[in-house]
Amino acid sequence: MSATGRMIARARAIRAKAWVPYSGFKVGACLRTPEGALFAGCNVENAAYPQSSCAEASAISALIGAGKRRIAEVVVVGGGNGPCTPCGGCRQRLAEFARPDTPVHMADPKGRLLLSTTLGALLPHAFGPMNLEKK
Ligand code: THU
Repeated sequence: MSATGRMIARARAIRAKAWVPYSGFKVGACLRTPEGALFAGCNVENAAYPQSSCAEASAISALIGAGKRRIAEVVVVGGGNGPCTPCGGCRQRLAEFARPDTPVHMADPKGRLLLSTTLGALLPHAFGPMNLEKK
């Protein structure tokens, strides 16, 4: 199985565990580091709605908690009509640890690839650490 195939499998598996009593919309995400380590996360909702976490944010927490610092590939598995693209906030979160050419794949709950693009295409002209550098 390809690295992307394994990532889809991990995202599907963790998606099944999502806590979504409010939206009913389960999402699983899997991140690959340049060394090939995989980190997955699901969305975790909260009765105080803004305190909910997206699947991508959960996966980033796992990656950072394991001492990793770079994201080389992203997979998101969600339901609904069409690809479950990362929300705006998660595009920014991913950009902290990925590059504009980092592949981002969206698959449906059965694991079928719906869209493959890049973080740069999802978040053009991103604000990043370079913006904070002093002149
Ligand atoms: N959600 C994610 O976890 N990731 C995405 O890429 C899109 C949306 C979650 C947030 C919320 O729990 C539910 O999906 C509906 O918006």
